[in-house]
Amino acid sequence: VDWNKVQERWNYLRPIKESLAAKYYTNEVHEKAQSLSQADQRRLLDVMMGGLCNQDSGVGVYATRPEDYDAFSFYLEPLIRTYHNIEGDTKQEHDWNIPIGKYLLKEINPKLEKVSMRARVARNVKGWNLPPSMDKAERLKFEATMEEVFAKFNIPGTYHSQTPGHKNELSNEKAEEFRKAHFLFNDMTTDNHLTTSGVANDWPHGRGIWLSEDKTKMIWVGEEDQLRIISIVHGNDLGVVDNSLKDLLTQMEKGGITFAEHPTYGIITTCPTNMGTGKRQSILGQFPNISKKGTDEKALKELAKSFNLQARGMGGEHSAMDENGTADISPSARFGVTEATVAQRLYDGLVKLYQIELGK
Ligand code: ARG
Repeated sequence: VDWNKVQERWNYLRPIKESLAAKYYTNEVHEKAQSLSQADQRRLLDVMMGGLCNQDSGVGVYATRPEDYDAFSFYLEPLIRTYHNIEGDTKQEHDWNIPIGKYLLKEINPKLEKVSMRARVARNVKGWNLPPSMDKAERLKFEATMEEVFAKFNIPGTYHSQTPGHKNELSNEKAEEFRKAHFLFNDMTTDNHLTTSGVANDWPHGRGIWLSEDKTKMIWVGEEDQLRIISIVHGNDLGVVDNSLKDLLTQMEKGGITFAEHPTYGIITTCPTNMGTGKRQSILGQFPNISKKGTDEKALKELAKSFNLQARGMGGEHSAMDENGTADISPSARFGVTEATVAQRLYDGLVKLYQIELGK
């Protein structure tokens, strides 16, 4: 690997938009990279590929296998700490004790009676490569292994595969319907971050979705993480969606799955933004005033950011808001907080956002 070229590229990108990957490519990292074995040098280059190829990267790295977080900790550790706002030592702890009846959205705004609430956890399974470095055979084997787990669930549901020729192959029409309902992920080849990092390789092989009969629980197979375990509930009590998600997670574990975990960082994920709990919890809210009817997305994003929240469009990451300023709002930190803290932060952040939206 020609690390001088890599350094030049980061220097070129930095003034356009400084990703964390560029920010933490310091002279020390530059020296250290050159002292690695050939194989590790290539691996580290793979880790940086998303950031090197995309000027709009905010983060810009993806782990290619669980061991990368230790092998390249000289580079990734400070990046993780900055993203999750960590000072001092933090060892990830888990706490799923999220009460029902405590985080009631309609107490923030009576209009939030029936809201689309979503919580997901990213998971990867111990013993497998992370999606950027899986080959087609491994992706297919992983999918087949998960289907065996789904078959043991006591929640009624169906696995739909996007693998061509699969016995439960998802038709294009059905896939479109699932996407419109926000159940299914987008065609991964339309996302440059996912293609350049290798996450989207072999698309659509080994990709699919398990969907519960009542359509409140779903599991994505083969997206940015091997698994995304999700619950979507329409209502106004955040605790309900958390409990639903936890039930689904328990089903997975009962099926004999051991998730990849790191002694310090907790849940291991492809993108360092999801380490720790792997949990992203959001609601779809409307902010016509702050976003000036959706024409000033930036205002909403920046205000959300000042409350440690992230505002996305309604079609997921990098999607646009509509004329009602409909946005998906979630706390950005997932490491150094517990699953319960994520719910609490979402609630507390929404209180502040709605105070401004409603001019209180
Ligand atoms: N790699 C992209 C970037 O750096 C996305 C980062 C966070 N999002 C994610 N889906 N992991 O901007």
